[in-house]
Amino acid sequence: MTDKINELLRRVEAFRPKTAAEVEEFRIRVLGKKGELNALMEEFKTVAPELKRELGQQLNRLKNTALERINTLRAELQNAAADQTSEAGDLTRPGTAEPIGSRHPISLMKNRIVEVFSRLGYTVADGPEIEDDWHVFSALNFPPEHPARDMQDTFFIEKNPDILLRTHTSSIQVRMMERQKPPIRVICPGRVFRNEAISYRAHCIFHQIEGLYVDEGVSFADLKQSLLYFAKEIFGEQTAIRMRPSYFPFTEPSAEVDVSCNLCGGKGCAVCKGTGWLEIMGCGMVDPNVLSANGIDPQKYSGFAFGMGIERIAMLKYGVKDLRLYFENDVRFLHQFDTAF
Ligand code: DAH
Repeated sequence: MTDKINELLRRVEAFRPKTAAEVEEFRIRVLGKKGELNALMEEFKTVAPELKRELGQQLNRLKNTALERINTLRAELQNAAADQTSEAGDLTRPGTAEPIGSRHPISLMKNRIVEVFSRLGYTVADGPEIEDDWHVFSALNFPPEHPARDMQDTFFIEKNPDILLRTHTSSIQVRMMERQKPPIRVICPGRVFRNEAISYRAHCIFHQIEGLYVDEGVSFADLKQSLLYFAKEIFGEQTAIRMRPSYFPFTEPSAEVDVSCNLCGGKGCAVCKGTGWLEIMGCGMVDPNVLSANGIDPQKYSGFAFGMGIERIAMLKYGVKDLRLYFENDVRFLHQFDTAF
């Protein structure tokens, strides 16, 4: 009897009908009242009791396979028939769903920062990622051999030390001053490159946003007020900023900007290492040497500049603890930002 069951099973599996009528015919022949399966069921009644268990299971499997196969074939042939009724196929059939992606948190943060500064009248400027020494260093008051060049580990293009991957978006300041007479008010997002070992807090590729404002009578007070507005827009109305004296070759005076820690409200916690403050950017008044190197009269004009890492701002705002997450593109990480902005 096992042989008979297996033989019918093989025929069910090999059945390749061309029309729905063939399927129906097959169904009656196999599963109908007087069909082959029922004949086997009759035979089953007569087998020895010790064989019943095993054979019963085989019969059940045969029945289920036959039912499933007939239903599938029926649906396939119906769909094919519908496809043939119009040139475009059956337009009522459900399509294949494409998984929906999301914007990268770095793009979202960049867009948000650009949006805040555009409300203050800034326009977006761009520059090349492969730069020359002049735009990245010399025009920004880094003389040759100046130790400040070591503040940023540079990738040089082999054989030509004049050509390099920009280490900061400050190079776009230079391109803007070359291109345009004051007033200049630009925000410059871009990718930057540094020869650093990759860890949770450093990467050899990351993103910065540079700001530059040059006009008659621009003061440090204007800088401070603009950055306070920015900090409140990004981290919340209750946010305070403080400035600490610092050094950059292209600004004088220079400062580091901190925002009050948005996790502990300034009381001190693990994220702000007990200080109540988080460092977010560097800034300062454009050094007169930089203005004159770029053909702008420092007697007539003054300006301020600032620069920040986009990854860092997003890390502080969203509590991302490992910079490498931004580069791995795991959708479980990326989707968390769908509703964050
Ligand atoms: N270029 C600096 C860096 O990459 C950031 C910076 C500091 C930019 C001060 C500025 C500035 O425009 O004024 O570390």
